[in-house]
Amino acid sequence: MAVERTLSIIKPDAVKKNAIGQICARFEAAGLKIVAMRMTWLSRAEAEGFYAVHRERPFFRDLVDFMISGPVVVQAIEGENAIAKNRELMGATDPKKAAKGTIRADFADSIDANAVHGSDGADTARTEIAYFFPASQVYSR
Ligand code: CMP
Repeated sequence: MAVERTLSIIKPDAVKKNAIGQICARFEAAGLKIVAMRMTWLSRAEAEGFYAVHRERPFFRDLVDFMISGPVVVQAIEGENAIAKNRELMGATDPKKAAKGTIRADFADSIDANAVHGSDGADTARTEIAYFFPASQVYSR
C-alpha cells in the first residue's frame, strides 16, 4: 500500500462545536499524520474556487454560503492508503447515511453541515492540497 496525502477540511459546524481536537484525534488514532494545518475563514471566491467542480449543481450556492459561515481548519493528512482511510473515518456525505462511529455520524447535522470534507481520489487530493498549501509548508516526518 502506498503512502498518500489527502486534504481534509474541518467545516464551520464542527469548528463551532469545538470538535477540532476530537476530529484530529481520530485521524491520529487511525495512524494518519497531520502534515499541514491552519485555521482560515474562506472568502466567497475561495470557497467557490475550491468547489468549482460543483458549480452547476443545485446545492452549490447553499454549500458555499455554509462554507463561509465561520472559520474552517484545512489540513493535509498523510499515511498508508490515506485517501480511502480518511473517507472511511468520515462516513457517508449525508450524515443520515453515515455508519455508526464515523465522524459525520457523530458530529454532522445535515448534508451541507457535514463536519468534514475529504478528497475523493489521488488527483483531487493533489489539487486540493495545493489549493491551500505550498509544497514547502507540508511537513512529512
Ligand atoms: P464535501 O465532501 O465537502 O463535497 C461537496 C459537498 O457538497 C458535500 O461534502 C456536501 O456537504 C455538499 N452537498 C450538499 N448537497 C449535496 C448532494 N446532494 N450531493 C453531494 N454533496 C452535497
